[in-house]
Amino acid sequence: MLKLKFLRFLTSSSSTNQKSLPFDQKPDEPEINVKDFGDGFKWGVATAAYQIEGGWNSDGKGESIWDRFTSNPGHVKDRTNGQEATDFYNRYEDDLRLLKTLNLDNFRFSFSWSRLLPEGIGKVNEKGVDFYNKMIDTCLELGIDPWAMLYHWDLPQKLEDKGGWCNRDIVDWFSDYTELCTRRFGDRIQHWMVLNEPASFTTLGYLSGMHAPQKAGLSKFLASVHHACLCQAEGGRIVRNNVKDSHVGTSFSCAHTEPQKNTLWHRKASDRLDVMLNRLFIEPSLGMGYPYNELPFIRKIDRFILPDDPDKMKFDFDFIGLQNYFRVTSKPSLLPFVWANRVKPAPTSEVTEMGWEVSPEGIYDIIRQFAKYNIKEIIVSENGAAFKDHLVDGRVHDLQRISYFKRYLHHILRAKAEGINVTGYFAWTYVDNFEWDEGIRPRFGLVYNDFKTQQRIVKDSGLWFQELLKRE
Ligand code: GAL
Repeated sequence: MLKLKFLRFLTSSSSTNQKSLPFDQKPDEPEINVKDFGDGFKWGVATAAYQIEGGWNSDGKGESIWDRFTSNPGHVKDRTNGQEATDFYNRYEDDLRLLKTLNLDNFRFSFSWSRLLPEGIGKVNEKGVDFYNKMIDTCLELGIDPWAMLYHWDLPQKLEDKGGWCNRDIVDWFSDYTELCTRRFGDRIQHWMVLNEPASFTTLGYLSGMHAPQKAGLSKFLASVHHACLCQAEGGRIVRNNVKDSHVGTSFSCAHTEPQKNTLWHRKASDRLDVMLNRLFIEPSLGMGYPYNELPFIRKIDRFILPDDPDKMKFDFDFIGLQNYFRVTSKPSLLPFVWANRVKPAPTSEVTEMGWEVSPEGIYDIIRQFAKYNIKEIIVSENGAAFKDHLVDGRVHDLQRISYFKRYLHHILRAKAEGINVTGYFAWTYVDNFEWDEGIRPRFGLVYNDFKTQQRIVKDSGLWFQELLKRE
């Protein structure tokens, strides 16, 4: 299979020999004061069904593309899978109780489509509905606000067998699924998000083939992009229609791009990556169409566009979720279509376990870039870092992660201080989980997980949030 290397920068390979910040060294670490964010600011954690639930075939759940992908251990770097993950399916009560003690009152989760509709369409799995009912009710009893994500990458395998995101019928499949979720759970959930990072799941799943469902090629990619844009807007309309007083958004992966050198070629390369990383999904939803000019190959998407589609792709979301981890320095390259690539962080840069450069000012730049679209409300719906955690005497002193959060939050505050309406922050993530094709090695949690016993241990970063957000 054609395994295009490009867009590797979205997950980027782990880097081992770069400098990690020693725990006792904290340069430029700002103090964070919760009052500066304002009273109504939402603080929470983000999670995703496949990464935490486990119970992959419990109680009638159908197979998803991630169940299929990970059934071949060779697809995952550490040969693990999400069959058990963090066993949230059975441990949700304890987890939500623990989360509440951290004073993080907003819980973003995703519905597993194949738990609710094992075939993707048709017969509803009532036991799956029961699970989400109980989980949502537990949130509400504890005073945690649930934020529902409709699609976080785990398409039912039965739908992939029919072409998945490349088949235009997905607009109907997704609409029916959204109808189901909003009608069954919309009485208790106000905050909804439609798609998690469409740029990631279309490029990694349908262009480079590095993620499930391992499809690759330009035509598959462009079809998946167009159908995702249609679902994005249609999902928004269905939520607004079915949920009283809904607050509906969608989420985008994003990374501030800058040229490695100030030459015309470098600047153009940076613009091309900017289209792929930041512009491809938001601009059609704002009625601006696809950004063809900087990236002419996108014009080939025209053959999937029907006359009414430009209108159908439009939707005025109440908020946009921005998910940012790193910035991208770019240079021209021979990678097909985009002819640009990411420059590896300098050996002196601070990087995470994912090889991602820690670049707090990048979140300020990217928030400013999106604010130019006149978005009503911006929520940082994911941000966080995997670092090597050491469990010593029942504690995890993850000071580097605390430092990361402080620095990123400081730059979010800078954007807010300039008048940009940033209204919330969701840390990625609550507990160490199954990190897609990387497996369970990268630990992103505020809570440490012992994957053998499923014992949870709050890391110092979790305690830091607890202290930051404590009520007086
Ligand atoms: C995001 C994704 C999450 C999580 C995170 C950390 O792109 O939405 O599911 O994996 O990255 O890598």
